[in-house]
Amino acid sequence: MMRTFPTKLLLLLSSLMLIMILATSGSVLEVDREQQQQQQQWCVASDKATDEGLQEALDWACSTQGGANCSSIQPSGICFLPNTLKDHASFAFNDYWQKFKGQGGTCDFKGSALLVHADPSHDLCAFPLLP
Ligand SMILES: *[C@@H]1O[C@H](CO)[C@@H](O)[C@H](O)[C@H]1NC(C)=O
Repeated sequence: MMRTFPTKLLLLLSSLMLIMILATSGSVLEVDREQQQQQQQWCVASDKATDEGLQEALDWACSTQGGANCSSIQPSGICFLPNTLKDHASFAFNDYWQKFKGQGGTCDFKGSALLVHADPSHDLCAFPLLP
């Protein structure tokens, strides 16, 4: 005589397994998203930087040598406001780093810059994020 596995128990077990699978895949997706966000980086001016350091680095980043596109922080540009040295330097540092990070460009500017995971974009001023 064959002893059948109780149907109720079977249903209970399969429901439990389904819940476990769903819970696991959910947290895996969550971790993926967190890792992706962690991987997004922008280069901005450091709080520790001096005005002299920021000005020198900003001038260099926006020069032909630096190669950053600083048109957005000009008086007619969308990132002109807030019109502070630190905000303008952040925009230029990030534009430079996004462009050249793949070719060995660093986010340092003699210690005046650092990488952050929070998007510094504000209002209509978008800080580029390049692959
Ligand atoms: C520089 O940035 C401005 C504003 O985003 C854009 O319109 C312009 O095409 C850019 N110039 C270059 C050379 O990438």
